[in-house]
Amino acid sequence: MPRRRVKKALTKTQQRKKEHLELCLDATSVTGRFGTGLDRYSFVHNALPELDIDEIDVSTNFLGKQLQAPILISSMTGGFDLARRVNRNLAVAAQRLGLAMGVGSQRVAIEEPSVADSFEVRDVAPDILLLSNLGAVQLNYGYTVDHCRRAVGMIGADGLILHLNVLQEAVQPEGNRNFKSLAEKIAAVCRQLEVPVVVKEVGSGISAEVAVRLKEAGVKAIDVAGRGGTSWYAVEVQRAAKQGKPAETTFADWGIPTEEALIAVRQAVPDLQIIASGGIRTGLDIAKSIALGADMGAFGQPLLAAALESPEKVVEFIAGIIHEIKITMLCVGAKNLDALKKIPLVRRST
Ligand SMILES: Cc1cc2nc3c(=O)[nH]c(=O)nc-3n(C[C@H](O)[C@H](O)[C@H](O)COP(=O)(O)O)c2cc1C
Repeated sequence: MPRRRVKKALTKTQQRKKEHLELCLDATSVTGRFGTGLDRYSFVHNALPELDIDEIDVSTNFLGKQLQAPILISSMTGGFDLARRVNRNLAVAAQRLGLAMGVGSQRVAIEEPSVADSFEVRDVAPDILLLSNLGAVQLNYGYTVDHCRRAVGMIGADGLILHLNVLQEAVQPEGNRNFKSLAEKIAAVCRQLEVPVVVKEVGSGISAEVAVRLKEAGVKAIDVAGRGGTSWYAVEVQRAAKQGKPAETTFADWGIPTEEALIAVRQAVPDLQIIASGGIRTGLDIAKSIALGADMGAFGQPLLAAALESPEKVVEFIAGIIHEIKITMLCVGAKNLDALKKIPLVRRST
């Protein structure tokens, strides 16, 4: 018999997560003014590639798991009914297409275990590379490796993403703003947790210097999550505006553009796996990112509308992105991702 879901008033954390999801549905109001920087690059067209598009191989290995395409569905949501639907639709699509997926921050389910099922997707996605998610700053607010273990165990994840969101916490009225000694605490999690740890930003980017410290801490992969896509500053400003506060713009342009973060991080930590995200919107963006040193591309906001509808809509959207990656690879003569990594890009100076 299906489980009867009893409607309870949302906790503050659930309410905040719901507001985030609703606000992010409108890309125009949560996207920063400047782009990723990827449009400054172009490939040199190869009119005679000597390839058949149907034989182009976009499969890859990430954190030891084989994927059919170099795509991670970014960590986004969980903790309430609608989020459950979003996560399950994304997971079904990831399973069909052989992709990786992250769930949103599981703090809400650690605080309120009855909502854990809004993150659970293994029954519909048994084979995907599935990544748990917690805010690294929580390690300064009572969270330990045990909480990380609980997040991973809750969804049967293959790894844990710790997100760094210093600007968001700084501007969020209820934010946690003590970021002291976090590198040390991340290192302790990396040492003790049984699965690999990935660290990501949420739209302000990772610098070369931070990447080196994360590598020393023992993280296995970095998602640069740079400026150019969803801006958490914009999201929090919108939330504040809904509560009657004046709309601010002081930090609207803050952050390292995705392209700059990607190049800097690849140079700083050549042996770590790197995800390009933050404003990735097309298969061409992913192909450029891979040619610039990424192993994978990830996106969040563009999937929300489809994920609210059905798994088929998500599959349709991402299949289009994969097709664009293959078109790019055909037009530059790259038969697989290793070949694409070696294709030079031309950079415009302006
Ligand atoms: C609705 C929504 C909720 C998000 N929640 C989380 C989260 O809980 N944890 C996290 O690490 N990132 C979260 N993110 C950030 C994304 O994972 C990603 O880093 C960011 O949105 C940039 O990618 P985009 O420009 O493709 O949206 C969220 C993004 C969206 C759109």
